Amino acid sequence: MDMCGEVILVTGGASGIGAATCRLLAAAGASVVVADCNEARAKGVAAELPDAMSLVVDVSDAGDCERMIAAIAERYGKLDGAFNNAGITEVSVLNGAPMPESHALPLDVWRKVLNVDLDGVFFCLRAELPLMLKSGGGAIVNTTSLQAHISYPRTAAYTAAKHGVLGLTKAIAKEYGEQGIRCNSVSPGVVDTPLTNGVIHAPEYRDMLLAPIPLKRFATPEDIARAVLWLLSDQADYINGATIMADGGYLA
Ligand code: NAI
Repeated sequence: MDMCGEVILVTGGASGIGAATCRLLAAAGASVVVADCNEARAKGVAAELPDAMSLVVDVSDAGDCERMIAAIAERYGKLDGAFNNAGITEVSVLNGAPMPESHALPLDVWRKVLNVDLDGVFFCLRAELPLMLKSGGGAIVNTTSLQAHISYPRTAAYTAAKHGVLGLTKAIAKEYGEQGIRCNSVSPGVVDTPLTNGVIHAPEYRDMLLAPIPLKRFATPEDIARAVLWLLSDQADYINGATIMADGGYLA
């Protein structure tokens, strides 16, 4: 995969799937923008990569997203690709408190998950698209989830947000395809990252989560990053509005 000369933005680039993708993109020759709300970790990832930059952004703030793109325009003058990947779950917001049933989900938890996971993708898209159009086109990948296709109990907000991202991906693909912008998503199954590793290795969940996965292991961040790299590359030139299920066969 040759991505030399391409400028690619990765949100949530400081950790997990995003950080693995930053490293693969850089290895393919891209200049990578590592954007995240965690400044120290974003700087750390960018420092490993040639011609990379880190930016602090809260994707749930539309103004922050505009500033992020302005900084990219200033440094590189263009944007060839974007991986809109930053995300959280109810567990992140509840911070150790038990997961309530949906009728008892505090409204601030609902709003926070929707703000980051759905609004955040839209705010990034609406900032990225004008610069990408000026750059002559580009490729976008959004991170959805197995939960854009099925749900687990007590995850209504995350499930709703990820179903929304799947639809948003199709809308952008339809609207901007003829202007040279492809938009796809990746739907990871259970991936071993800081977002999930407190839950998926717990004895009460591990076997239950592994049982429906034919490959009998959780995904690594690199398993997902390879699919993203392909979607962002010109190898996927005719792929638009699609999602890649990267779930080890869970939904098969
Ligand atoms: P992670 O927690 O390792 O990385 C997420 C990154 O997003 C972190 O660096 C965090 O600081 C950043 N972030 C969170 N809120 C942000 C905000 N408001 N603005 C900017 N940055 C923010 O998690 P992971 O697993 O790498 O998740 C990446 C994406 O993959 C998320 O969208 C998640 O929903 C999705 N996903 C993860 C799965 C898993 O099993 N780990 C499965 C399916 C989807």
